[in-house]
Amino acid sequence: MNLLVYYFKMMHKVLLLVYRWQKYLFFFIHQLYNIINLLKNKISVLAIESSCDDTSAAIITDGVVISNRTATQIVHQQYGGVVPELASRQHLIHIIPVIDAAIKDAGMDLQNIDAIAFTRGPGLLGSLIVGVSMAKSLALSMDIPLIAVHHMHAHVLAHFAEEPKPSFPFLCLTVSGGHTQIVLVNDYTDMKVLGSTIDDAAGEAFDKTGKMLGLDYPAGPIIDKLAKAGKPVFHFPEPQVAGLNFSFSGLKTSILYFLQKAVAENPNFIQENLNDICCSVQSSIVHILLKKLKKASEITGIKEIGIAGGVSANSYLRQSFDEEGKKHGWNTYIPAFEYCTDNAGMIAVAGYYKFLNGEFCDQNVTPLARMEF
Ligand code: KG4
Ligand code: ZN
Repeated sequence: MNLLVYYFKMMHKVLLLVYRWQKYLFFFIHQLYNIINLLKNKISVLAIESSCDDTSAAIITDGVVISNRTATQIVHQQYGGVVPELASRQHLIHIIPVIDAAIKDAGMDLQNIDAIAFTRGPGLLGSLIVGVSMAKSLALSMDIPLIAVHHMHAHVLAHFAEEPKPSFPFLCLTVSGGHTQIVLVNDYTDMKVLGSTIDDAAGEAFDKTGKMLGLDYPAGPIIDKLAKAGKPVFHFPEPQVAGLNFSFSGLKTSILYFLQKAVAENPNFIQENLNDICCSVQSSIVHILLKKLKKASEITGIKEIGIAGGVSANSYLRQSFDEEGKKHGWNTYIPAFEYCTDNAGMIAVAGYYKFLNGEFCDQNVTPLARMEF
């Protein structure tokens, strides 16, 4: 009897200890798992991106992106924007060949993959469902972990796809078709939005202006190209927004009124001045973006600064950002083109660091059209 009491007392003590130290115990077990994995072989994560109109797959091995394949959907060009129904159907067509190509490029086969990372959101629900379902099926059939990635975190982490990489903490201006944010990045998984757009995103400002000018979708790269032969001779009012937030809808409206008035006076105004209009609009957007980025650097005292997202592919933004950096003593970082617009390489980077942190999700995970940062 005494022995039984002693046994229960001991068990109680052990359970109490486990309970008190569970955080450390889990951490220890997880680190042990990582070490075993590292000793066993290299860690490889297959990543899938399908949040909008690009189907992409990539493989990262030990933090180095070794393949990154993207299939772009040209079907939307004629509609002046992404048609969600068409986007999901195109993802269905592209997803398997794209994954296959990424695996082949890496010189691997599926058996070498340790986890599947995927974009959970934000994005178009119909598009996300294709990538999420593919990721879940692969993880289930291969009995490997699943990693859910936030698309905007991944845009920031595109900076770690290649050298040179920023050091922490750094500021990242993330400019895409749906978002415009200034992010304080403390670590691979610790980020905070310091300012964002209160209406349209910078990419939308490019695309909607392009629509007014009769350009194909996405207009951003076309405006970039045409602007090279133009001069910034037209001026638009600068939005007055508090703090580190942005606004682009006022700019859009003033461009619309400007064009309506000019075309009423000269029906050929757009054709005759296309390059100058593009250059003026691009210059206004870049000016708004860099002004707030400069303010963010002054407020935080951080001079380690990057730009990311589709609009960071803009040549004038890249050039002006570098010039601004030289003026203010910033260390500037711009990802290579293939990591600026939507790509799975950036999802792979985000997935890899979540893998090291043991941040996995289960098969009940669902895509999210809107997702908290
Ligand atoms: O990041 P992204 O590929 O997709 C989203 O997550 O939205 O960004 C797409 C946006 C589009 O608005 C497109 O017009 C813009 O990025 N973009 C550009 C350039 N390349 C892409 N905007 C200006 N200049 C460019 N060269
Ligand atoms: Zn994006």
